[in-house]
Amino acid sequence: MTSAAPETAVPAAPTTPASTSRDSDLVRAALRLPVRRTPVWFMRQAGRSLPEYRALRADVPMLESCRRPELVTEITLQPVRRHGVDAAIFFSDIVVPLAAIGVDLDIVPGTGPVVADPFRARADLDRLPELTPDLVPDITQSVQLLVAELGATPLIGFAGAPFTLASYLVEGGPSRNHERTKALMHGDPQLWHDLCARLAGIAGTFLRIQALAGASVVQLFDSWAGALSVADYERHVQPHSAVALAAVADLDVPRIHFGVGTGELLPSMAAAGTEVVGVDFRVSLTDAVARLGPSYAVQGNLDPALLFAPWDVVERRTRDIVEEGRRAPGHVFNLGHGVLPGTDPGVLTRVVELVHEVSTR
Ligand code: CP3
Repeated sequence: MTSAAPETAVPAAPTTPASTSRDSDLVRAALRLPVRRTPVWFMRQAGRSLPEYRALRADVPMLESCRRPELVTEITLQPVRRHGVDAAIFFSDIVVPLAAIGVDLDIVPGTGPVVADPFRARADLDRLPELTPDLVPDITQSVQLLVAELGATPLIGFAGAPFTLASYLVEGGPSRNHERTKALMHGDPQLWHDLCARLAGIAGTFLRIQALAGASVVQLFDSWAGALSVADYERHVQPHSAVALAAVADLDVPRIHFGVGTGELLPSMAAAGTEVVGVDFRVSLTDAVARLGPSYAVQGNLDPALLFAPWDVVERRTRDIVEEGRRAPGHVFNLGHGVLPGTDPGVLTRVVELVHEVSTR
């Protein structure tokens, strides 16, 4: 006699293809339900790794391209057609809602977001009004166009988390050490709190607009949260990320919470209110699951730089990650961070095929 639970206790994977995005393997994995096969998509799957993206973007500045619904739709669909991934991620940027409320910023190729007048003092809060849907009618329109095209393939909406947005605003651009951001957090905790409360409102509204327009899943990107200790994260950041995530809690849309270098923060990021925790490549999925327990699905975590290694290396790591993921409460295959611009798109397609092949139930 074994002590294993009777098989009937475990719900079975569906035997027919999904007819709605709600029944897709991505949504099912996020909800820790059995899947047909491990769902796979890539952060930054739309973008410079694709020649068809570079052709479309040749004459259009990044921020402008994010506000044109036909262009957004086409760019978002490109990697879905080419790679056969299990989800589309909305083509936009974490700073789009900041630009929409009037923050003077640009996305500089090869650098990232650059803010003309960085946030330095209490008076700067006046430059951060609330985000209201009428400021971004094009976002609703783009999502609606996409959802109509995608059918049962889910669309992932997203926003930048308060800390990561604050870092761009305070530093004025990308930062290695986040020194001005941390100086504000610790030097004027009340102003920090007020800034993050504004950003949490903006991020939450941006997520909600996408979810109400038809996105099936949302991801909150706290890309730079790994720069923080657990104590600082929990005190100065987590409450604000929790507000952003709570903005869609009533909408039946699973949430993914992701950051880079966040091995120590995984339980705190989970507790902010999410169904899925994104895991970067520095922590194995097995360790991540041990830290998170049975109540969360995980997403990740192939090192994007490994896609430049010989195929047998990529294949071995991909197989290992799928295998680790099978022992997780739910697993969405992804990279540990975004696709690097020089990546051979053919390798991404092969990874998708391999994940599907080895995970078919
Ligand atoms: O395919 C997708 O993932 C969807 C689109 C997407 C973009 N940015 C498009 C983009 C998403 C989800 C983002 C999120 C984003 N933007 C994050 C969080 C994710 C992460 O990478 O940690 C951050 C930190 C940003 C800020 C930002 N915007 C950076 C650091 C850069 C790169 C700068 C560069 O040129 O290397 C951008 C620009 C950007 N956002 C590009 C794309 C496709 C490149 C623009 C171009 O084609 O020139």
